[in-house]
Amino acid sequence: MTGATGNVGRHVVGQLLAAGAAVRALTRDPAAARLPAEAEVVGGDLTRPETVEPALKDVSALFLFPSPGTAGPVLRAAKEHGVRRVVLLSSSAVEYSTEGADNAIVAYHKEIEREVEKSGLEWTFVRPGAFAVNSLQWAPQIRADGVVRGPYAEAEMAPIHERDIADVAARLLLTDGHAGAKYVLTGPESLTQAEQARRIGEAVGRPVRYEELAPEVAREQMIRDQVPAEFADMLLDFQAGLVGVPADVTATVEEVTGRPARTLDEWAADHAADFR
Ligand SMILES: NC(=O)c1ccc[n+]([C@@H]2O[C@H](COP(=O)([O-])OP(=O)(O)OC[C@H]3O[C@@H](n4cnc5c(N)ncnc54)[C@H](OP(=O)(O)O)[C@@H]3O)[C@@H](O)[C@H]2O)c1
Repeated sequence: MTGATGNVGRHVVGQLLAAGAAVRALTRDPAAARLPAEAEVVGGDLTRPETVEPALKDVSALFLFPSPGTAGPVLRAAKEHGVRRVVLLSSSAVEYSTEGADNAIVAYHKEIEREVEKSGLEWTFVRPGAFAVNSLQWAPQIRADGVVRGPYAEAEMAPIHERDIADVAARLLLTDGHAGAKYVLTGPESLTQAEQARRIGEAVGRPVRYEELAPEVAREQMIRDQVPAEFADMLLDFQAGLVGVPADVTATVEEVTGRPARTLDEWAADHAADFR
C-alpha cells in the first residue's frame, strides 16, 4: 500500500485487513502514520525508489499512489520482486481530457497510467472524479460564519466519498476479473457547489450558504493563500467549464462492490465534526 495514510489509502488498509489480507503500508513518516497495529508500517519515499524497493518483497498486489514522475522505477522493482497486480489511483480527468490540451494534473496522471500499462503487471485503473473530501477546505469558513466564499457557485460535480473509492480499490486488489479495466468512479448525484455547501450545513445543523466571488477575486484570494498562480488558473478554468453542466454519474461503485455509492449527505454526516 502506497498512499496508505491518505484519505483513500487509509480506508483501503482498513478494508484489506478486514478481509484478512496481510498489509504492508509505506509512508514517509512511520511515526506519524496512525495506521492499525495489524498493518506492517514501513518507511519509504516514492521520489526515492531505492527506499521503496525493500517494501516490495513478498508482495502480491500493489496499490499505487500517483506521485508525479515516480512510477517507472517503482513498477520495475515491483516486477522484479514478483508482484503480480497493481491498482493505480488515477483521475477521471484523464478520461475527459482532450489530447493536446492537457493541464498539468491530467498530464502527470496520463504519464503514470502509461508507465503502469507497460509495466508487465496485471493492472486496473481507478479513475475517481471530484472527492467529497475536497470540501474540507471550506471548513474554516463554515466554522467562522457559515458562508463559503468561492468561485462558480453553479459549477456541478458528483462528489465521491473516499470510502467508496477505497471499497472499490480493496476489491480490485483482492479479486480477479478486473485486469485492464479503467473504472471511472463518481458519487451518485450531480450537485452544484452551492447545493453541496447547503447539504453540509444540514449535516452540521446550521445554515451554510455559498457566496459567489468573481473569478479574479477568487484568484487573488487563492494566491494570497499560497496557491501557485498556475494551479489557481487551472482550477478556475476547470470550474468555469462545469457551470450549468450536470456531471456524469457512473454506476461503477455499485457494479464493483455490490452497494450503491454513498451520497453527499452520508459523507457530510461522517464529517460533520470537521465543520463544527
Ligand atoms: N481530490 C480530488 O478531487 C481527486 C480527484 C481525482 C483523483 N485524485 C487523486 O487522488 C490523489 C489524492 O488522494 P488522497 O486524498 O487519498 O491522498 P492524500 O490524503 O492527499 O494523501 C497523500 C498520500 O500519498 C502519500 N505520498 C505522497 N507523496 C509521497 C511520496 N513521495 N512517497 C510516499 N508516499 C507519498 C502520502 O503518504 P505519507 O505522507 O504518509 O508519506 C499520503 O498517504 C490526488 O493526488 C490525485 O492523484 C484526487
